[in-house]
This record gives sequence, C-alpha cells and structure tokens, in this order.
Amino acid sequence: MASTPETKLADNEVPQSSFFSELFSPVNLILTVIIVVLVYKILRSKFGKSSVEPPAPELPKIRKDMTVAELRQYDGTQPDGRVLVAVNGWIFDATRGRRFYGPGGPYAVFGGKDASRGLATFSVTSSDKEYDDLSDLNSMEMESVKEWEAQFREKYDLVGRLLKPGEEPTNYSDEETEETEPSTNNPEEKKEQ
Ligand code: HEM
Repeated sequence: MASTPETKLADNEVPQSSFFSELFSPVNLILTVIIVVLVYKILRSKFGKSSVEPPAPELPKIRKDMTVAELRQYDGTQPDGRVLVAVNGWIFDATRGRRFYGPGGPYAVFGGKDASRGLATFSVTSSDKEYDDLSDLNSMEMESVKEWEAQFREKYDLVGRLLKPGEEPTNYSDEETEETEPSTNNPEEKKEQ
C-alpha cells in the first residue's frame, strides 16, 4: 500500500529543483527588476545630480540697480562666473543657471542682457539697445514676458531694477538681508512706492 516511498520528501524538505524554480519564478524576477529600478532611481536622485553638475559657486548676493551697459559685464565670462539676466525690467542672478546662460550655454545670448524681448517672441536673440521699453509687444507677448518674470522670481535671486537712461538707482544698503519681494510686476510702480 506504500506509495512510492523513495521519492517522498519530509514535510520540511524542499526538493532542490523546486527551490530553484521558485527562486527564479517570473514573479520573483519581476519583483527583483522593480526593486533594482527603484533603488537605481533613488540613488540617482540623491547623488546623480551632483556627480553630473559641478557644485554651483557660492557668490555673495548682490543687490543693485543697473543700466544695460552695467549689466553687460555679468555674462559669465568674468572670473567669478556670475551671470545676470534681466526680464521685464528686473535683474536676476542666474548664476545657478549658468549651464543655460553662461558661456557656451544654449541661452548664452541672454547672459548679461535684457532677455525680455527674446523670451516674449520665442527667439534666442538679444538686442544691444540702450533700453528696450517693450512698448511694441502685443498683449500675448507681454503675458509671456510676465510668465517668464514669475519663473525667474521663483528660481533666481532678485538683484535690482534695469535702469532706463537717466534713471537713478535705488539705494539698497539699508535693506534687510531677508529681502521682501516686490509686490508688483511693474518696476515703475515699485519705484513710486
Ligand atoms: C525646440 C526648441 C526648444 C527646446 C527643445 C527647448 C528645451 C529646453 C530645455 C530641455 C530646457 C531645460 C529645462 C531644465 O532643465 O530645467 C530649456 C530651458 C530654457 N529654455 Fe528652452 N527650448 C527650446 C526653445 C527655447 C526658446 C525659443 C527660448 C526662448 C527664446 C527658450 C528659453 C529657455 C530658457 C530661458 C530656459 C532656461 C530656464 C531656466 O532658467 O531655468 N527655449 N529649454
């Protein structure tokens, strides 16, 4: 009555072939792949960026209104590599975005320049006008400039206003280091406050 006693295994014993086939079962393989991908993504998000990009140089913050001519020197070619970009009458410190606006970057033409018109018209060009008042831009283009300005405000430190010819710079020396963002988009209004 004994049924094949030589092939029967003890209750706690797993046959080797079955152990390996379970180890490499499709479910386990899929789980392993998922775990490897997740670990890779976590490691890449933690360490990947710093290994690809050199650490941004920590430059002292500057707070200053400038003319177009003064702005021009901050195109990233100076030894400190500072890059300033003006948008809609405001100057931003885009040194953090050197890879975009610094020498050799895809948007290097905006480094040390008023990028408003180029951004508004979706053209990677900048003019050397003494001051571009943007008055000929249509409402859609002006909307676009304002959106770019908001984006720059989010990402970069505000340096000051882009001065029209003859306009006097604001004295920021008394300003708190915890600088309060201007509540208006219009540099003119800000000046009148
Ligand atoms: C085929 C056309 C274009 C493609 C595929 C493209 C693609 C990109 C990409 C991939 C980034 C990087 C985003 C990031 O890593 O944060 C970028 C950034 C940027 N793009 Fe373009 N772009 C194009 C055209 C333009 C044009 C025409 C302008 C303006 C005139 C422009 C202005 C910018 C600016 C200013 C940034 C940097 C924003 C920042 O400071 O973070 N792009 N673009």
